[in-house]
Amino acid sequence: MTAVVREPADFRRACDEARGRGQRVGLVPTMGALHAGHLSLIDEAKARADFIAVTIFVNPLQFGEGEDLDRYPRTMEADLEGCRGRDVDVVFAPDPKAMYPDGFQTQVSLGEITKPLEGEFRPGHFDGVTTVVTKLFNLTGPSVAVFGRKDYQQWRILSRLALDLDMPIEVVGCAIIREADGLALSSRNRYLSASERKRALGIVTGLRAAYDAWTGGQRNPDTLRALAAAPVEALFDRADYVAAADPETLGAPEDPESRLLLAVAAHLGKTRLIDNVVLGEDPRP
Ligand code: PAF
Repeated sequence: MTAVVREPADFRRACDEARGRGQRVGLVPTMGALHAGHLSLIDEAKARADFIAVTIFVNPLQFGEGEDLDRYPRTMEADLEGCRGRDVDVVFAPDPKAMYPDGFQTQVSLGEITKPLEGEFRPGHFDGVTTVVTKLFNLTGPSVAVFGRKDYQQWRILSRLALDLDMPIEVVGCAIIREADGLALSSRNRYLSASERKRALGIVTGLRAAYDAWTGGQRNPDTLRALAAAPVEALFDRADYVAAADPETLGAPEDPESRLLLAVAAHLGKTRLIDNVVLGEDPRP
């Protein structure tokens, strides 16, 4: 039976009780509009914990001005069906007022790791993410929390947060789940028109070209970056970045001979898509 709770105190109680029974609690934070990628996070949590908590909260703090907070897809009934189908123990779906009551004024911010890539183009975004996830960690008391690696920088930041603040939480990053043609699953894919959906393949086409060059021995970050960028520049309306970065620090590549993160954010009409591959670690996208 999947319980659905809306009040933080009720959610905390459900998780406390599970821990009281000696169960390991696994947390899967989401903003809803669940797709197969999210379901794979739930499966990973189930493999690692006994009591599974999924949160569904479109967190206003992490959306900047002019971003898609108002039109972000809200599909609560289908999301709950998905959670019931996976035997999730509790779903926490609070109202913004319950998470941020009048007088709320605390912000959790990390340093250097939040500045490049997404941080450069979405100022304040990661402060919103780290603030809400800290609250969710505190309410849940999980042994393990599971995130998708499509938001690669987010996963690295949240791992750093847990480490820096001595939170006894294993922060797991799960592989990107893709459509048959390679497009990374995203709640935002539903915004795409038919022609945008075709052009969206520019990202994975570029990542594959770079992956194939890497497999053939190419290790120059500029060359690999240029291979990833070419189809994005040809097919998208505009790119925020196509970057070669260090997979740990997210800054300039430190050891590009062994591993290299290629990360992309680009716009098709009003839709912004992100994707990435860690060369030397991930399978071909
Ligand atoms: O990745 C997301 O869906 C969100 O950024 C998260 C981690 C649920 C925080 O709101």
